[in-house]
Amino acid sequence: MESPKSLIGFIDLRSDTVTLPTEEMLEAIKNAELGDDVFGEDPTVNRLEEMAAKKMDKEAALLVPSGTMANLISVTSNTKPGDSAILEADSHIHWYEVGGISAIAGVLPLPVKGKMGVMDPKDIEAAIRRNDIHFAETTLVCIENTHNRAGGTVVTPAQIQAISRVAKEYGLRLYMDGARIFNASVALKVDVKEFTRHVDNLMFCLSKGLSCPIGSIVVGNREFIERARKVRKTLGGGMRQAGIIAAPGIIALEKMIDRLEDDHRNARFLAERLAEIEGIDVDLRTVQTNMIIFEISRLSITAEAFVKELREQGVLALDLGKTRVRMVTHRGIEREDVEKAADRVEDVTRKMRQKKL
Ligand SMILES: Cc1ncc(COP(=O)(O)O)c(C=O)c1O
Repeated sequence: MESPKSLIGFIDLRSDTVTLPTEEMLEAIKNAELGDDVFGEDPTVNRLEEMAAKKMDKEAALLVPSGTMANLISVTSNTKPGDSAILEADSHIHWYEVGGISAIAGVLPLPVKGKMGVMDPKDIEAAIRRNDIHFAETTLVCIENTHNRAGGTVVTPAQIQAISRVAKEYGLRLYMDGARIFNASVALKVDVKEFTRHVDNLMFCLSKGLSCPIGSIVVGNREFIERARKVRKTLGGGMRQAGIIAAPGIIALEKMIDRLEDDHRNARFLAERLAEIEGIDVDLRTVQTNMIIFEISRLSITAEAFVKELREQGVLALDLGKTRVRMVTHRGIEREDVEKAADRVEDVTRKMRQKKL
């Protein structure tokens, strides 16, 4: 693992998780009022959880160390071992969470392919396994908003409502991995409550575009959060003076949401520049928030090698499989950085095309 020092000077577009806390956050960490949160006595954690529940218009909330743990806790708390859960085939839970919902929650994933990250309610209905002697009974539907592998695409409130109708009809719970739900809310200029009102429960991350160093929050009704608190303890996620995590979280909720619009503007600008480069294919319809996923299959180079070349030029991106590359804008990335990044992509693709000739 490289130390952050060695990345100074790089334009780091790998993820919005690389954001560092603001000065104000560091100051808040230093001054946070603390207590033992396993005893429910950390006033800063309690304040953040109350704020989060209110913002999402749910009864209660729970601070957890990571988005992955938030998803695992939520799936576990919404199901029992031997159940099945419908989720989008390209979702983070299905791809990047080490199979935790199977290995730990004992839940069988039923992947449904979506369009731009959004599952069709009819496909959800078709995937449901009813209570039959042979079946892992379906009790949960999980959606992801914004959808990471689809390119940061938004699941609109109307689409969530349509999915919730099917879930309700069959008595299933609806959970939202809302790691970047504020990006969705800012992109559509719609209050976040519109996205949360049709789901039973959700999680969102403090440690992505909102710039906190650590933390995600699970939100839902009181009974669900009580269960989640117990599951968090089972997983070893009960934290003591967790106010040092909660203090920057409070600042994130108060001050860091509106600026996501800058990230979206920069992502759009970068995507449009990339779309003009010969050999790069970007589906601009998917560029709705702070991510850009582009195809390089016309360049006869793997995404891994492409990303390595870009790194030589001072730009960091992520390869997603063989020919797909992802870039993410975030606080600390300015217009001039995305301009430079586009120039560097142009240089690398030119080099590749010349090699091919
Ligand atoms: C949609 C989504 N859900 C969950 C996570 C997991 O979050 P964490 O990295 O904090 O475990 C991520 C991380 O990028 C994500 O993009």
